[in-house]
Amino acid sequence: MTKQRVTQKDLKTVAKKLVADCERYHSDWATVVALQGDLGAGKTTFTREVAHVLGVKGAITSPTFVIEKIYGLPKKGKSRFSRFVHIDAYRLEGSDELDVLGWHRIVNDPQNLIFIEWPKNVRQCLPDNTLWVTLKHVDETVRDIDW
Ligand SMILES: Nc1ncnc2c1ncn2[C@@H]1O[C@H](COP(=O)(O)OP(=O)(O)OP(=O)(O)O)[C@@H](O)[C@H]1O
Ligand SMILES: [Mg+2]
Repeated sequence: MTKQRVTQKDLKTVAKKLVADCERYHSDWATVVALQGDLGAGKTTFTREVAHVLGVKGAITSPTFVIEKIYGLPKKGKSRFSRFVHIDAYRLEGSDELDVLGWHRIVNDPQNLIFIEWPKNVRQCLPDNTLWVTLKHVDETVRDIDW
């Protein structure tokens, strides 16, 4: 995948591409996507689109304060994943803090698709095959998304 320059309206198309890549990604454990980008780069906004593509209904709020949100995916859906996990590691100071949130159980389940904002804060927890996605602010309405 090469760099995509996207407005908010195009996010859904890019989210679909990323979900398709995740569906094809073979991993013996969970599929982990690390979202790299500055404050306001669009990590949460993009994750919300991904959740919608996966069939999550209702509000997808930022997990900044709760750190971790787990959404069950519809059984009738086409996805090979049964859960979507959204983690915001902004407030975490190390991998130990993710362990407390049941990280081992979550990362060992191949049916989980995990998106992590501020992944460098918990770098030691990330599997070697983590898929890194970079978001960059171009201007008020445009972002570069790259993986
Ligand atoms: N093309 C775009 N893609 C994503 N967000 C966009 C785009 N254009 C404008 N925005 C706006 O940029 C803001 C991005 O905020 P968001 O909370 O998603 O960023 P974030 O990377 O999660 O920040 P934080 O590091 O604080 O968690 C939103 O207000 C969104 O509406
Ligand atoms: Mg965010």
